[in-house]
Amino acid sequence: MRIAVCPGSFDPVTKGHLDIVTRASKLFDRVIVLVVINAAKTPSFTPEERVAMIREVIGDDLPNVEVDTFSGLLADYVRNVGAVAIVKGLRAVSDFEYEFQMALANKKLNPAADTVFLTTASQNMYLSSSLVKQIAQFGGDISDFLPPQIVDKVAGRLCKKEIQ
Ligand code: PNS
Repeated sequence: MRIAVCPGSFDPVTKGHLDIVTRASKLFDRVIVLVVINAAKTPSFTPEERVAMIREVIGDDLPNVEVDTFSGLLADYVRNVGAVAIVKGLRAVSDFEYEFQMALANKKLNPAADTVFLTTASQNMYLSSSLVKQIAQFGGDISDFLPPQIVDKVAGRLCKKEIQ
């Protein structure tokens, strides 16, 4: 059983994340999408809401994918579940330096797991949760960026409706 962990903030999950998770589910026997709680960030959605949104968009489509939440060192979680890989999406060269640093640190902390980078699909190159949130805050159309099941929830939460 080859287990992979797909970690992230997922605040909220985007079509870009979903693409990476879907492809990871074909490469590994079991994939855990891990909502990591980062005390340094101020999220728009609680960890429970983020987990629920990911579960909703995955539905019954990916039977070998599960969703969990965690606060702590990713390398510890990966060791505890016996995962062999951490799967991350790479959008652009600008992602690389930070991701490379994290991959090396995680390898040092847990030599049993490797970080696997999947290149993002070209239509998701520019996509990020923070970009989607900015657009939503000003009432912009976010339906191309998010799985359809969560568009209304995200727009309803973030739209300030005070544009003049
Ligand atoms: O979606 P994000 O915010 O880019 O995800 C970053 C995340 C959650 C993968 C990263 O912050 C993380 O792994 N945090 C857990 C704490 C940890 O292990 N830090 C050291 C990484 S080397």
